[in-house]
Amino acid sequence: MKKIRVGLVGFGFIGPHHLEAIRRTGLAEVVAIATSDAAGAHAKAEQSGVARATGDWRTLTADPAIDVIDIATPTHLHGPIALAALAAGKHVIVDKPLATSSAEAARMLAGAQRARVVHAVTFNIRYNVMLQHARAIIARGDLGEVRLVRGHYLQEWLLKDTDFNWRLQPERAGALGMIADAGAHWYDLAQHVTGRRIVRVLADLSTAMRVRRPTRGRTVRVQVPDLGLIVCEFDHGARGHFATSALCAGHKNDLTIEVSGSHASLRWEQERPDELWLGHRDAPNQLLRKDPALLDPGVRHYAALPGGHAEAWPDAFRNLMRNILGFIAEGRDPREADEIAFPTFATGLRIARIADAIAASAKAGGRWQSVKKP
Ligand SMILES: NC(=O)c1ccc[n+]([C@@H]2O[C@H](COP(=O)([O-])OP(=O)(O)OC[C@H]3O[C@@H](n4cnc5c(N)ncnc54)[C@H](O)[C@@H]3O)[C@@H](O)[C@H]2O)c1
Repeated sequence: MKKIRVGLVGFGFIGPHHLEAIRRTGLAEVVAIATSDAAGAHAKAEQSGVARATGDWRTLTADPAIDVIDIATPTHLHGPIALAALAAGKHVIVDKPLATSSAEAARMLAGAQRARVVHAVTFNIRYNVMLQHARAIIARGDLGEVRLVRGHYLQEWLLKDTDFNWRLQPERAGALGMIADAGAHWYDLAQHVTGRRIVRVLADLSTAMRVRRPTRGRTVRVQVPDLGLIVCEFDHGARGHFATSALCAGHKNDLTIEVSGSHASLRWEQERPDELWLGHRDAPNQLLRKDPALLDPGVRHYAALPGGHAEAWPDAFRNLMRNILGFIAEGRDPREADEIAFPTFATGLRIARIADAIAASAKAGGRWQSVKKP
């Protein structure tokens, strides 16, 4: 079978993981990478065994030999690169969050629908097999009616005033900084795992560290929040709460989601990716360690290894890329994409609108704010 040819834009932290996940599917080949400087791009392409490299992403969006543009740049560039790729009739994969604003996300969705190509956003975490199992057992009713969804995404990498990154620059990350960046993963998980939509939010956002002194560069007055506390309501009335910050010493990548229903609870923690905690009132609690034989038959294919061999973050990324590239390889109609096998720009737009509601609620001093419907 002829392999799908991918042009990958952005090769910093996440770009190499896109490359690895794409290679592991066996369905596609990354034929070129683009970064912000040509020399760096060439060096990285050589180290990674990619044939071509450029310092100008337009070379890739204009290249008729490329089928898919995969975007792994800072968020403000997602829109311009995606729109150019769509105008050239290419399928587009974008890392999360889809854009720095919901207006840009809406333009990207409209452009993708006009172009009739496949569009996807890499909310990769949800394709961990234990989260797929969580989704399946909630859908089949094991937890009863979902009443409370709670969790956090806590990290430590902004703890010191010398820590700095583009995610603190509103022109690159959007007005909410990490609340929309890391937060997007949790809003997506809360909706995907429960099968429900967040319809209202109540938010308190603050900036604990107002001045930063990056080791490289000038002192910066921080314009984006670095602490977010968010209460939410789901479309069937369940409530949720979520805290996020990268100011929490000791928390490396502590993304946690817990769902409590009328019969039972479950919890998944990113730092223990092979486990699912199941909470019961009239029986002992359980700790389910990944073992394909013990998982819902509909999601077993998301586990590639037998029990006892850990599967984690890169495996979830591979699962997602396999779903997206498999859909493209089969030549399926983009309108058939259901947002379950892979998130689309419609999923990304919905998450951007949650971010809008969070911003509006915080601005109004913490009043409930509805999430705009697409
Ligand atoms: N899915 C996930 O779990 C996950 C994790 C981290 C980051 N992300 C997202 O991925 C994106 C990239 O984040 P990152 O941490 O890899 O950033 P990064 O700063 O580490 O890397 C950014 C890359 O983009 C390139 N770039 C910048 N300007 C460019 C330009 N004009 N043309 C071409 N390339 C350009 C840089 O050269 C670099 O290679 C962001 O949207 C971020 O939110 C997602």
